[in-house]
Amino acid sequence: MDLRNASMVTEFILLGFSGPWELQVFFFVTFALIYGATLMGNILIIITVTFSSALRSPMYFLLGNLSFLDLCLSTVTTPKMITDLLAEHRAISLWGCMAQMFFMHFFGGAEMTLLITMAFDRYVAICKPLHYRTIMSHRLLRGLVVLSWTIGFIHTTSQMVLTVNLPFCGHNVIDNIFCDLPLVIKLACIETYTLELFVIADSGLLSLICFILLLVSYTVILVTVRQRSSGGLSKALSTLSAHIIVVTLFFGPCIFIYAWPFKSFSGNKVLAVFYTVITPLLNPLIYTLRNQKMQEAMKKLQAQHIFKEYETNHT
Ligand SMILES: *[C@@H]1O[C@H](CO)[C@@H](O)[C@H](O)[C@H]1NC(C)=O
Repeated sequence: MDLRNASMVTEFILLGFSGPWELQVFFFVTFALIYGATLMGNILIIITVTFSSALRSPMYFLLGNLSFLDLCLSTVTTPKMITDLLAEHRAISLWGCMAQMFFMHFFGGAEMTLLITMAFDRYVAICKPLHYRTIMSHRLLRGLVVLSWTIGFIHTTSQMVLTVNLPFCGHNVIDNIFCDLPLVIKLACIETYTLELFVIADSGLLSLICFILLLVSYTVILVTVRQRSSGGLSKALSTLSAHIIVVTLFFGPCIFIYAWPFKSFSGNKVLAVFYTVITPLLNPLIYTLRNQKMQEAMKKLQAQHIFKEYETNHT
């Protein structure tokens, strides 16, 4: 086939969630509420961590960074998906689609790596408490944060370099809620078997390795706590179980979609909701609602703010 003569695709159609309009409205309201809560929750965490002098420990720096990544990750996909629910013509331009995939893998890869840094931080805090301050120095911390962004960048660039130049000349319908690498690659009008294998090796392995590393570090923490005292175990279990649930919701769908991308089925859309819409909301919930110090810092900041307003109004 002469590619120059074929009609070139300039936009993709995202099928999204289909169904009667009542269902679409229901999805619209639900996802809009979730996205709003995600924005508010994560921005609140970033503000609290940045301005509260009580939260100077490494854990909160990492938490602030996680919130920032969650904010970015959900913003790459959710607003477009929400507005598409009410749209007649659900299209995304070729470059919009490429940008969406680039940033999704950028923030996603960085977030996966940052979660490992956070598990390492907990490991040091629980298993080597006396050396916590010396090990988790600001220098190491900054290095680890930069490393996670770097891994995210290399991860996405390596895949996108091979994807942007693919010729698209016929099919342009994507049965998903956003542009997703395995589905977009399949639409190219050349043989893409090698590229698909590369995506499995890149995205699939990254998710799988990060997931296994996280589970291993959680196990090590639990075993250490158990050896020390039986009372500490139940507390550690209740904290870590929440983390394990969220981590599984995030990594499970990623591993399923990217490690076996050859089959496509409509359940992919539902799975995709978990790692782009649900987990960015769950992270602030499990890290703040269960964290007393965080809640106190939020209250204190609020009180300071109200006090300042009171002062300016009454002088
Ligand atoms: C992210 O981590 C860096 C390095 O530790 C820190 O300086 C920065 O304040 C963090 N960002 C947020 C939003 O907490």
